[in-house]
Amino acid sequence: MKKVKKAIIPAAGLGTRFLPATKAMPKEMLPIINKPTIQYIVEEAIEAGIEDIIIVTGKGKRAIEDHFDSAFELETKLLEAGKLELLKEVQRSAKVELHYIRQKEPKGLGHAVWCARRFIGNEPFGVLLGDDIVTGKVPCLRQLIDQYETYGKSVIGVQNVASDMTHRYGVIDPGERRDRLYSVNRFVEKPKPGTAPSDLAIMGRYVFSPKIFDYLELMEVGAGGEIQLTDAIQKLNEEEQVHAYQFEGTRYDVGERLGYILTTLSFAMKSKDLRQDVLDMMASMLKEERYASAFEYRGGVDHGLASTAGGV
Ligand code: UTP
Repeated sequence: MKKVKKAIIPAAGLGTRFLPATKAMPKEMLPIINKPTIQYIVEEAIEAGIEDIIIVTGKGKRAIEDHFDSAFELETKLLEAGKLELLKEVQRSAKVELHYIRQKEPKGLGHAVWCARRFIGNEPFGVLLGDDIVTGKVPCLRQLIDQYETYGKSVIGVQNVASDMTHRYGVIDPGERRDRLYSVNRFVEKPKPGTAPSDLAIMGRYVFSPKIFDYLELMEVGAGGEIQLTDAIQKLNEEEQVHAYQFEGTRYDVGERLGYILTTLSFAMKSKDLRQDVLDMMASMLKEERYASAFEYRGGVDHGLASTAGGV
């Protein structure tokens, strides 16, 4: 069986939930503290053993290519200044071959993956969404590759979500289960509230056999007016079984605003330099908030007083 050595990162979406920030800047470049989201994803692919990555970009996404370009002047300056840790950080993504292709119109995730078909050729490959970060002991993509290389079936990363959240995801109707691996009866894209076949949601990591391109080729616009990857996965599952794997790790949805804030806070909590300051800041914000709402509750409307209270 061929090894999985290539991966696609679709990053050509419009990022409308982050407008106006994403008018001229790709949402995949929004930083989580000091590192752009897409760099975390590239690093996951490298750790998973991927040798070639193709990033699907679109209009207004030049910053992604510039970010991963070698920065000779910056690197020389860091070297001269003896800032070797920073230099190592800047050079981290140099361990992989990065390629780019343009999706001329954002016609959906399925279409973005299809745009990379010539680069992939007749090999199995990974897909990592450009706005989903996953952390954990074993890189999420590696966990899926291990399943692919054991069973020879395409495999989709899933995790449990709250049952009132299933309408925001692609969801599986699980069949047989072996430990964390499921066969799948059906894949459903964004089921209407209350109709989801399970709470196991597709989470932005996939390993596919190249056969998926045959279905993407035939796909028409589906839910939300876009060419949906989930619809092609459903077809592929009917021809050659597709597995779902409940991966270990924490998944952060950086593509929506609350998820972005939570991700930033979680990463700050893990940072030795930032943790205590952020905790202190949050504690004082909470105190301020409680004081203000207690004051409002008592019918207070004197904002001068409330802001004095805020300073306590
Ligand atoms: P999203 O649907 O989360 O991204 O796609 P979006 O469309 O940019 O976001 P909103 O809804 O307008 O705020 C998940 C990933 O797939 C890529 C996105 O760039 C993102 O990384 N994508 C999406 C494409 O590459 N092409 C598309 O046509 C759609």
